[in-house]
Amino acid sequence: MAKNKVEETVDKAYKTAQLTKNEIIFLLSEKISNLEYLIKKADEKRQEIFGRKVHLRAIIEFSSCCRQNCYYCGLRKDNRSLERYRLTGDEIINTALKAADLGYRTVVLQSGEDNYPAEDLADIIEEIKNRADIAVTLSVGERSFADYLLWEKVGADRYLLKHETADRTLYKKYHPGMNFENRINCLRYLKKIGYQIGSGVIVDLPGQTAETLADDLFLCQDLDLDMMGSGPFIPHRNTPLKDKKTGSVEMTLKVTALSRLLMPKVHIPATTALGTIDPEGRKKALKAGANVIMPNVTDSIYRKKYQIYPNKTSINTDEEYYHSSIAVEINSLGRTIASNKGHSLKIE
Ligand code: 5AD
Ligand code: SF4
Repeated sequence: MAKNKVEETVDKAYKTAQLTKNEIIFLLSEKISNLEYLIKKADEKRQEIFGRKVHLRAIIEFSSCCRQNCYYCGLRKDNRSLERYRLTGDEIINTALKAADLGYRTVVLQSGEDNYPAEDLADIIEEIKNRADIAVTLSVGERSFADYLLWEKVGADRYLLKHETADRTLYKKYHPGMNFENRINCLRYLKKIGYQIGSGVIVDLPGQTAETLADDLFLCQDLDLDMMGSGPFIPHRNTPLKDKKTGSVEMTLKVTALSRLLMPKVHIPATTALGTIDPEGRKKALKAGANVIMPNVTDSIYRKKYQIYPNKTSINTDEEYYHSSIAVEINSLGRTIASNKGHSLKIE
């Protein structure tokens, strides 16, 4: 039987990891019910590259202070109703060591664009690296190149800085006072000095189109990412985008599957945002090309104060959680938790 256009396009992506802009737009515009083949081939590619192993990255949300005003985010500085917190160095270190004890092989130190002193963060990274055999990922936004260099020197392995949207007009509109070129320069610099880098997009950001998303995928290919994540837009009531529509699970899955086919070796998380709008969301992503889950290990007294978007999945992440729910979720798919650090395949 002759192949249909979806199959032809997906086969091309599977074989060459390249598609034209029109081909990407075509797939993104198809109904998810017509895209079973896309999801299936992305899952096959994930299996071919990573096998059954799922990597866990433990997130520590160590500061909710932020000097930026991103239109979609509950941590934006103009959201005065949010009570801010900042963990001490010892609290961060102890949380990281606890995560290591639980079996996590990566911790992600994440915060708003706080002006956390670079030297203090360097000491924290150094201490964690000395006391535990784990990878450290930083996710603290745009900083000076000197800071990035300092943290790399003391042992930080990876850096997560989502570009959010490659549409310059939307970027400008939703990030007052910020500059798209600077963000991309940060990512390129981080890569150049030896970090494994992660970026990602907010799917269904108001005003975003399939064309924009195709540009996002091209940009991610061009950045030679080690990790790429896509999460749906979720409106937050204390932000200018409060009345906008929640992003769709389907579009997020399409972008996830396309990311896998167009960037076969990248780590792809089943994002917390997707798990927040659909209880099955993370599982669906794991079956559409994703190979990473990022559980939150922040102490529960702080967790509710880190409201990037409402109802952020924040199930108990203590020992029990690690050994039960996540493992159950992963095992139910015939997969297992990886025991290594899960560095980028590009550097091994
Ligand atoms: N919906 C979905 N994702 C969001 N982020 C921030 N606000 C939202 C929202 N309302 C994501 C962005 C950012 C990360 C901290 O959280 O991608 O990089
Ligand atoms: Fe701050 Fe990041 Fe939220 Fe923007 S997305 S307001 S930089 S925490």
